[in-house]
Amino acid sequence: MRAAVYDSYGAAAEVLRIVDIDRPEPGPGEVRVRIEVSGVNPTDWKSRSGATPRPIKDFQVPHHDGTGVIDAVGEGVDQNRVGQRVWTWMAAASGRWGTAAEWSVMPSRQAVALPDGASAELGASLGVPAMTAHRCLFADGPVDGKNVLVAGGAGAVGHFAIELAKFAGARVAATVSGPEKAELARRAGADLVVNYRDASAADQLREFAPQLHRIVELALGANLELDLALSGPQTYIVDYAAEPADPVLPVRKCMNANVVLRFILLYLVPAPAQDQAVADITRALAAGALSALPVTRFPLDQCVRAQQAVEAGAVGKVLVEP
Ligand SMILES: NC(=O)c1ccc[n+]([C@@H]2O[C@H](COP(=O)([O-])OP(=O)(O)OC[C@H]3O[C@@H](n4cnc5c(N)ncnc54)[C@H](OP(=O)(O)O)[C@@H]3O)[C@@H](O)[C@H]2O)c1
Repeated sequence: MRAAVYDSYGAAAEVLRIVDIDRPEPGPGEVRVRIEVSGVNPTDWKSRSGATPRPIKDFQVPHHDGTGVIDAVGEGVDQNRVGQRVWTWMAAASGRWGTAAEWSVMPSRQAVALPDGASAELGASLGVPAMTAHRCLFADGPVDGKNVLVAGGAGAVGHFAIELAKFAGARVAATVSGPEKAELARRAGADLVVNYRDASAADQLREFAPQLHRIVELALGANLELDLALSGPQTYIVDYAAEPADPVLPVRKCMNANVVLRFILLYLVPAPAQDQAVADITRALAAGALSALPVTRFPLDQCVRAQQAVEAGAVGKVLVEP
């Protein structure tokens, strides 16, 4: 099969190659997926570049997310899964067979039935972003009737945080950096969209809700002051990224707010919470509550350019087609 692979860390153009390799066979508890579309996330280039290295066993096919059809199952997996259209999550986390290839293999629970009507683009956009968004929103209980702020509401995680929060019955505000991203956040369903560079951002958000219940955060260093201005004893600030720099923690201000800080790394979210995320995302998909961001497509042969686009901060999702 054709696959993108790397066997050492480095720049995409230096280490990422398109090769012919043997098609993998599913082991016990695994499924094999014929990949239709592979979704690219920042974690993919960070793993490949060595910025946040993950172990490489001989070689690594990158990308966790994708849409495809199960065409073989390993020992212990229901044969009826063959032919099922699925979205995948963390495909490259436990082995070398990511989704940037014609076929991928992964544990059965990481290939989830895609409801009828859900597009391949949406399926390939879900894995890392929607699973992360779910954990940020729900690790500390339901958000029905609560006030949620999503920082970076036009990003991939931010997009699904808005949609999942709205589906769960929350009021949602989002921050963005300009009009194009504001439109994306509004389309996702945000009740209020604020430019975080605007001097009146805190006032606009305070008018929306004097205190927030959840702040889904990706730039704690840049935004902690804004977040604390909107925080109280009922606020959970949940951070899932280290963009662009670590914060200096203003302990007294955090104490005054009685705020709770939580950090999320999807790779290490406990399995029951991952399974709950899969179940809730499936419900939201079936209800038509999730949508795809605008996509940029690359053929598998141009996987280097696809990863470079994500590394450069492409708006929307970057997809690779084997
Ligand atoms: N912990 C985990 O398990 C986990 C899971 C998924 C992703 N991540 C990390 O989360 C980050 C985002 O991932 P993604 O896939 O959502 O990326 P993305 O689609 O590129 O979105 C990132 C968004 O953040 C916005 N942003 C940047 N600085 C901001 C700030 N100070 N305030 C508000 N928004 C800001 C960007 O827009 P502007 O620059 O225009 O504001 C952009 O819309 C990456 O670093 C990724 O590695 C971590």
